Parts: sequence; structure tokens; C-alpha cells
Amino acid sequence: MRKQKTVKESYVRMTELVLPNDTNTLHNLMGGRMMHWMDIVSAIAAQKHSNRIVVTASVDNVSFRESIKLGNVITLEAQVTRAFSSSMEVHITVWAEDIPSGTKVKSNEAYFTFVAVDQSGNPIDVPEAVPETDDEKEKFAGALRRRQLRLILGGRMKPDDATELKSLFEQ
Ligand SMILES: CC(C)(COP(=O)(O)OP(=O)(O)OC[C@H]1O[C@@H](n2cnc3c(N)ncnc32)[C@H](O)[C@@H]1OP(=O)(O)O)[C@@H](O)C(=O)NCCC(=O)NCCS
Repeated sequence: MRKQKTVKESYVRMTELVLPNDTNTLHNLMGGRMMHWMDIVSAIAAQKHSNRIVVTASVDNVSFRESIKLGNVITLEAQVTRAFSSSMEVHITVWAEDIPSGTKVKSNEAYFTFVAVDQSGNPIDVPEAVPETDDEKEKFAGALRRRQLRLILGGRMKPDDATELKSLFEQ
């Protein structure tokens, strides 16, 4: 039987301080730096779930709602939402905190997909991810649709085969 782990076991929290070298000429955090941190925190979550080396397979839409200022403290939280065979979807939430003014806002949310690989770089199966809370169950259920959408966009699935996605429009 395939090994099971709760999604909570993959939870990772990471904190960063926005320093001058992380910013653009307006003293705002650069999007690329943010995505680098998102990639790291979510890769660690996928590693914790699979106990394997993982590679980033895809990054879903990342929007930048508000600029993040020099000196802000960034907190990134990541957790696996669902595991398929060798791939895992990871949800990331990013918070920006201005400590002197005592404000903290959610600045980004995104889904990254990782694939566990063996020493030769070949995909290898990972444990099942078991959701427990209502939020975890909702993200687990939605992961199937998001997977089909990203495989279509990545040219790896024919739209006609995306049964879960199609069912959304056929009710
Ligand atoms: C990701 C990678 C391992 C997939 O290898 P592959 O030989 O195409 O393997 P497969 O077709 O058997 O797919 C393996 C898994 O990857 C998933 N996958 C492949 N491309 C994907 C994509 N664009 N988005 C989401 N998942 C993807 C497949 O759905 C499959 O998942 P499953 O096992 O859970 O069903 C391979 O493409 C790779 O090594 N890419 C480079 C990764 C990397 O270097 N990332 C850093 C970029 S700088």
C-alpha cells in the first residue's frame, strides 16, 4: 500500500528581511526575488512530504497586488495540497509586515508544482497527501482541476482529456 502523510507534515514557514539588494530603484521588493523565496519555501515543503530531491515543474499565476517596501519583513508559508504520482502541488502564502507601523498584509498566493526525482533525475512516486481541515480538503479537491489546467497550458494534456475541468462548465 502507498505510504500516506498528512499535508500538515509538509508545512514550512520562512522569514526574510527586505534589504537594499532585494529592491528596485523605487526601493520596492523585486518580483524575481520574491519568486526565488517562493521557490525555496515550496521546494522545502515538497521535500518534507516526499523525503526526496525535488525539481520545480511549473509555477502557476503569480500576481503582485501591492508593492513591498525596503525594510519589510516577509513571511512565506508553504504546504503540499495534494500529491499525484511523482508530482506535488504546493500552496504558498506570502505576508509583508511593516514592524514600526504594526501592519501586516497578505501580499501573494500561488501554487507551484514539484516532481520528486531519483539520483538520475527520473520521476519517482511520492506518498499520498492526506488533508485534515476543511481548508486543506478544499485545496485538495481543487488540485485536480488546477493540475489539468497547467498540463493543458504546458502542452502535456489535450483539452478533451481534462474531464474534471470540463465538468465545471457542463453543469
Ligand atoms: C519535471 C520533470 C522531472 C518531468 O519529467 P518527465 O520525463 O517529463 O516526466 P513525466 O512525463 O513522467 O512526468 C512526471 C510528472 O511531472 C509532471 N509534470 C511534467 N511537466 C509538468 C508541468 N509543466 N506542470 C506540472 N506537472 C508537470 C507530470 O504530470 C508527472 O506527474 P505525476 O507523476 O504526478 O503524474 C522534467 O521535465 C524535468 O526535470 N524538468 C526540469 C526541472 C527543473 O530543472 N526545474 C528547475 C527549472 S530552473
